[in-house]
Amino acid sequence: MTDEPTLREAADDSDFRIGAAIDPDALRSDPSYWRTASNEFNAVTPENALKMGPLRPSRDTYDFGDADAVVDFGDRNDMYVRGHVLVWHNQKPDWFQAWDYTDDQLREFLREHVHTVAGRYHGRIDAWDVVNEAVADDGSMRDTVWYDALGEDYLADAFRWADEVSDADLYYNDYGADAINEKSDAIYDLLERLLDRGAPIDGVGLQMHALGDHPDPDSVAENIRRFQDLGLDVQITEMDVAFHADDPPANPDKVQAEFYRDVIAACRDAGCDTVVTWGVHDASTWLRTFRDFSDRFTGDPLLFDDRYDEKPAYDAVKGALRD
Ligand code: XIL
Repeated sequence: MTDEPTLREAADDSDFRIGAAIDPDALRSDPSYWRTASNEFNAVTPENALKMGPLRPSRDTYDFGDADAVVDFGDRNDMYVRGHVLVWHNQKPDWFQAWDYTDDQLREFLREHVHTVAGRYHGRIDAWDVVNEAVADDGSMRDTVWYDALGEDYLADAFRWADEVSDADLYYNDYGADAINEKSDAIYDLLERLLDRGAPIDGVGLQMHALGDHPDPDSVAENIRRFQDLGLDVQITEMDVAFHADDPPANPDKVQAEFYRDVIAACRDAGCDTVVTWGVHDASTWLRTFRDFSDRFTGDPLLFDDRYDEKPAYDAVKGALRD
């Protein structure tokens, strides 16, 4: 036995939330997985289970089994639970095709979805990603089924619908907007417009998938501060740190650890208190299975390795929490 605190204890001591995205099948089948998740993290989010596709196997049914498993796990272990995600253009059910609906019907479809899902978890989910990835990489509005039919109104509507049935904090979430850049400028403008219209937005989630080129931590801190100046809370919601597969650094574990440390420090300096990593251990990272990512990026972006052993990144995060 050692007296060394776990990551979770270090986070609790600093009033910080350190989280992991959770796969319900791994929870059910792998004791090391759930032990690591509950001993080392004080926040969870379902990685996929709350997305519209997994939740809605057919036109008339919802299947909440997997989502409930993750939310229950969070509840039982006294963890902060992030809900991900109510409105997104990806991972929709195969049976859902926009051309089957008029624009009015689409709006009603989305309202019913938000009310059903956010309403079910009233009091159990602490924060919701209400809208995910509505802005394109060049800063224009992303051309999605929702935007195409409903225009920018769908964002304000989605936040209002979520607010009608949920007591959670409501977030806009996106990738590639972690530092000051064209896309985060556009998101800043979008959120300012939505707030001006009275949309009940509490915060912004910066995903922080640092997969090849890593953003400058000083610019991340400046970005966090400007969103806070809009009155928004800022959380880092999907962090993982990888490298271009064809050009990794000589000492990837060290560079990875330093980047984790710098982001936690930037976050804490700016007064942000939540960082969720996108998986429990390297063997469960999406980078190994998603599209061609395994060719493009290194596949060990998390705090624990394939055997659940602590990596240099783990020590770096813990150190940054205790500084
Ligand atoms: C990813 C999951 O990790 C994968 O398992 C799934 O196949 C695709 O989606 N941005 C998001 C997350 O908001 O929902 C995505 O999660 C990663 C990028």
